[in-house]
Amino acid sequence: MKRAVYPGSFDPVTFGHLDVIRRASEMFDVLIVSVLNNKVKTPLFSVEERVKILQEATKDIPNVQVDSFTGLLINYAAEHDIHVAVRGLRAITDFEYELQIAQTNRKLSGEKLDTMFLTTSLEYAYLSSSSVKEIASFGGDVSQCVPEFVAKLIYEKYHIQDRI
Ligand code: PNS
Repeated sequence: MKRAVYPGSFDPVTFGHLDVIRRASEMFDVLIVSVLNNKVKTPLFSVEERVKILQEATKDIPNVQVDSFTGLLINYAAEHDIHVAVRGLRAITDFEYELQIAQTNRKLSGEKLDTMFLTTSLEYAYLSSSSVKEIASFGGDVSQCVPEFVAKLIYEKYHIQDRI
């Protein structure tokens, strides 16, 4: 069984993430999308909410499982006997950060965890969870960025009555 993990904050999941999930799910027998429980960041959605949102958004892809993790990705991967992490690359600006994490993870894991990058489809290259949240917080239209039910949940968080 070829298994991979797609780790991330997913606060919340966007069409860009879903594009990576769909494409990676076709390359592995099982793809575990795992939400980082990051105590440092203050997220819009709790880990439990993000897991539920991801489950709903990926319910049509049978080999995708949704989970969460705390601490180092290499430890999570080792516990689940996973040797590939999947990440999306939108632009060259992502590259330096991602390269550093990928190389660190490879080294720290004793070369057991590799990272596979998928370049984001061009139509989603501009998308980020942070910009989606900023647009939605001012009542802007995020229908081209996230699934409709996710957009509703974001507007609810920001109390944007016109959009709920
Ligand atoms: O969606 P994000 O916030 O860009 O995802 C970043 C993530 C979750 C992939 C990365 O921060 C991570 O794996 N964190 C877990 C802690 C860890 O393993 N750090 C070592 C890498 S330097």
